[in-house]
Amino acid sequence: MKIAVIGTGYVGLVTGTCLAETGNEVLCIDINEEKVKQMQSGVVPIYEPHLENLFERNIEANRLRFSTSLKEGLDYGDIIFLALPTPEDEDGSADLKYILGVADDIGKLITSYKVIVDKSTVPVGTSDRVKEAIAKNAKVEFDVVSNPEFLREGFAVDDFLKPERIVVGSSSEKATQLMEKLYKPFVRSGNPIIIMDEKSAELTKYAANAFLATKITFMNEIANFCEKVGADVDKVRIGMGTDSRIGKRFLFPGIGYGGSCFPKDVKALHKSGKDHNYNFEILDAVVNVNQEQKLKLIPKIKDYFNNNLKGKKIAVWGLAFKPETDDIREAPALYTIDNLLQLGAHITAFDPEAMPNVKRRYDDKIAFSKSMYEALEGADALIICTEWSIFRTPDFSKIKSLLNHPVIFDGRNLYDVNDVKNEGFTYLSIGR
Ligand code: UDX
Repeated sequence: MKIAVIGTGYVGLVTGTCLAETGNEVLCIDINEEKVKQMQSGVVPIYEPHLENLFERNIEANRLRFSTSLKEGLDYGDIIFLALPTPEDEDGSADLKYILGVADDIGKLITSYKVIVDKSTVPVGTSDRVKEAIAKNAKVEFDVVSNPEFLREGFAVDDFLKPERIVVGSSSEKATQLMEKLYKPFVRSGNPIIIMDEKSAELTKYAANAFLATKITFMNEIANFCEKVGADVDKVRIGMGTDSRIGKRFLFPGIGYGGSCFPKDVKALHKSGKDHNYNFEILDAVVNVNQEQKLKLIPKIKDYFNNNLKGKKIAVWGLAFKPETDDIREAPALYTIDNLLQLGAHITAFDPEAMPNVKRRYDDKIAFSKSMYEALEGADALIICTEWSIFRTPDFSKIKSLLNHPVIFDGRNLYDVNDVKNEGFTYLSIGR
């Protein structure tokens, strides 16, 4: 099939590349000329495991191409994916200017039947607005379909190629059939393509992300309470999670969720509720608890240093909002660092992928290390903010010899409490 993907951000790029991988011919469109040139020369503009391989392979096979011309994309594709940003507006709602702007152009430019697929995360009712915007000028037939993505950063390629489910919101038989044909190769395992109306599909995405954010936040509150009563959240987590109605995943407490999706989507669903006279009380609580959770290590650190962090050198392991990504959006590490800087501490940080992004934000306000151990040289404490695998089995005696004080503040509960204590450390984590 011939596909155009409008917008080559994270979602667009993964979508375009993975659709090419199953033999479709894909033309990706972006207004950023420099980025398009970069991609044409075979360079992937983001860090995402396994993407580079697929990207190069499909460019070589001439199934994956790039252009800055929206017109070219619309002439080329039978199915047009919209993978455009929906940034958070000042009031928490999703800003639809990019999507509606392109929809307007689509109406003016299409000359034959097209299925327009909305992959971006958009508030309920957006497909109607996209339809209206296209219909204003369109002289030919078209359909608009909602097809939310459920890609996790770091696992996006795998999630796209082997999805647990595909959700398609469509009220046109013709468009539904095309979507089923397109996605069939991805669900050979028997996982479902779930067809529903557009509004339900749009809401499914928000409901899924808001639920997961709530699940994490609930567990964070249980962890906070464990600290008050002397219970161990690891035990509680396993005790709860083995109930199959609850499930083991997304029950890991820590210094809060971050990233480009959960924070934005929880707020957008709350705002969407308000717009329809519905108050999502639970989501209010989730936002507030998560905000506080990001700073959960700070009182522990202050306590240890008797409220005096002036001039203390703190080593930070992990800056990305989660492992296997260089994404630092809403990263708990940055909230923690900002707070420590305000308290007069000096920071030396290490992250396997995210340091260039953090450098751009902090200039020379914090120092960076080439290795996880170099960050510890002469530091007064170690703080762990992201659970990268390389931090999981460190050489504790080396850590101890490099630190001025044998103390670890762990925002991701990486180690067994007794093991670290037996190594001679003061070890403070979350909910244990
Ligand atoms: C998420 C959704 O999983 C994906 O389906 C959606 O389409 C986009 O948003 P992503 O933002 O890549 O994906 O991250 P995810 O792996 O889901 O983690 C989100 C945040 O939750 C991270 O900050 C992570 O550290 C945190 N988290 C996750 C916890 O604190 N505890 C957990 O048990 C799980």
